[in-house]
Amino acid sequence: MATIELKGVSKEFRINRERSVLALGAMDLTIREGEFIALLGPSGCGKSTILNLVAGLDEPSTGTVTVDGLPPRQLQTKQQLGIAFQEHALLPWRSVEGNLELPFQIAGRKPDREHIAGLIELVGLKGFESARPSQLSGGMRQRVSIARALCLAPKLLLLDEPFGALDAVTRRSMNLELQRIWQEKQITTILVTHTVEEALFLADRVLVMSGRPGRIVREVQVPFPRPRTVETMRQELFHQLVDDLTLSLEPEYKEP
Ligand SMILES: Nc1ncnc2c1ncn2[C@@H]1O[C@H](COP(=O)(O)OP(=O)(O)OP(=O)(O)O)[C@@H](O)[C@H]1O
Ligand SMILES: [Mg+2]
Repeated sequence: MATIELKGVSKEFRINRERSVLALGAMDLTIREGEFIALLGPSGCGKSTILNLVAGLDEPSTGTVTVDGLPPRQLQTKQQLGIAFQEHALLPWRSVEGNLELPFQIAGRKPDREHIAGLIELVGLKGFESARPSQLSGGMRQRVSIARALCLAPKLLLLDEPFGALDAVTRRSMNLELQRIWQEKQITTILVTHTVEEALFLADRVLVMSGRPGRIVREVQVPFPRPRTVETMRQELFHQLVDDLTLSLEPEYKEP
């Protein structure tokens, strides 16, 4: 499993000749092997940027990012990275099944049909194997992209608001599923979410970021034992932590 280390990482984007945007201030962050991290923060604070850096899809402007001591790109080459992007990024001309075959094909492996069928069932899309993305709802597409991220049994799972388009009931059952998968495989996971409840329900540690330039302003170790259930969310302490974290998301929040 993967240990992630960000040291002095900042990211500046050039907009044009005169202007650039400092998306991330210098940040240090260590994520333990098998740890589940939730990232919360206002829109534009650099959450997707962090995922892109950890995935090796972009380079930091300063500092270093390593996964198990190596540049993240190496994990990609070894196909040990599962990503579900904010935009689902499915191939429109391929069926659900075809989209799940893609990671195997990129890796030069024969698609494991049984495993794919299992994943389709896991995300509740049995019967839609041959549907194309345009024939699915937004939430169904998100579920396909989660299944795709899990295809190659990754060491590292990066999830960018994967449940954003789901109704509350489906979202809750996906949360339970994700917890189950994570417990079974202990994949190091970074989940970006806008929902405080979801962060607390799933994560070992919740990180709150400030508005641009993004910095980590708050860190909460989640005290609830696993498996967490619907009961967990009814506890007084759960509600208190939700309130507390919601306050730290406000723009005028001052670090203690
Ligand atoms: N390729 C890019 N070129 C220029 N600016 C960028 C680029 N990618 C991101 N940015 C800028 O960096 C900042 C952080 O963007 P990012 O996508 O990481 O935010 P986010 O926290 O994921 O927001 P959201 O919650 O809306 O998805 C934003 O101000 C954005 O305009
Ligand atoms: Mg984003």
